[in-house]
Amino acid sequence: MVRAPAKLNLFLELTGKRPDGYHDLDTVMVPISCYDTLVIRKTVRESIRIYPHWRPDPSHWIESLGTAAAESQWEMPVDDRNLIYRALEAVAHYANYRGGWDVWVRKRIPSGAGMGGASSDAASAIRAAVALLNLTPSTTELAQIAAGLGSDVPFFLGGDADDCGAQVSAMRATGRGEILEPLPHPERLHFLVAFPSQSLSTATVYKHCSVPAQTRSSAAFRRALATGDSDLLQKELFNRLAEAATILSPAVRDLLQLMKISGLTDCLMTGSGSACFALVRDPYHAGLMQAELKQTLRAHGVQAHVFYARTVSIPQRIRLTSFCHA
Ligand code: C5P
Repeated sequence: MVRAPAKLNLFLELTGKRPDGYHDLDTVMVPISCYDTLVIRKTVRESIRIYPHWRPDPSHWIESLGTAAAESQWEMPVDDRNLIYRALEAVAHYANYRGGWDVWVRKRIPSGAGMGGASSDAASAIRAAVALLNLTPSTTELAQIAAGLGSDVPFFLGGDADDCGAQVSAMRATGRGEILEPLPHPERLHFLVAFPSQSLSTATVYKHCSVPAQTRSSAAFRRALATGDSDLLQKELFNRLAEAATILSPAVRDLLQLMKISGLTDCLMTGSGSACFALVRDPYHAGLMQAELKQTLRAHGVQAHVFYARTVSIPQRIRLTSFCHA
């Protein structure tokens, strides 16, 4: 069994438009304590079979998000539209492996939330497949497999730190998202995360954004992270994609507004949305603010899934004893 954490972007600037249509980024991401879980086993049969199920199940999500939440949001493709499928194909190609895979996925990370669920699942599938096939790819080879699948996948593999078995938390990502720099930070960070009733397509949000004439540097944010000064950290939270997302999605706009009304003044959208978050002092403060936010949401007739999360480390090595073999 392998856990695939979600992520939050605490800072995100677009620094350029690339000839391949992607954007160059300067972003700082942290993995958080909201996980999908994958159980993977090798099979003699050649095909890849994915068995997804949502926990809590879709009826619970629809109850907490309302009927505005599209039911298609809870339909997970099990063919090559799924990044787990493509990750396993890529590893099989790298290793010349001719067998197949069974994958059971317990989904908790909402789709179209900007929390990297699909990318994290893919990274976990790569780590699991590499361990099960007893492969020893170099960091560069792993990074190539990951970057070919999606811009956020390299982050979830933990970058270069895996050579020393180090635990990785915050990372700066530049380029398309594949150039990674671990960022030490002294304090564990605590968040209140809110996912509104509408998800957003990454490609659509990026299409509605442009690179500013004057780009903002992540240097001040990284300094604040290194010192652990939470007041400064809150002030430096930034996401260039947020403005476009609030225009595309009234649900994101309303959620951010209501978070501010609830006292979460320095709240932000993560990635290309639609989930938003605010830094809180500790789990106790999160509980107080969660109750406050839920009350404000109810008073305005707005639905959202609200939960507490804290920074975690990306697991670097997989112990095979935790796997079922075919
Ligand atoms: O890499 P990924 O599949 O997650 O990207 C989804 C879409 O988001 C891309 O097709 C692209 O339109 C946009 N994107 C971008 N620049 C990035 C990452 C994503 O323009 N660095």
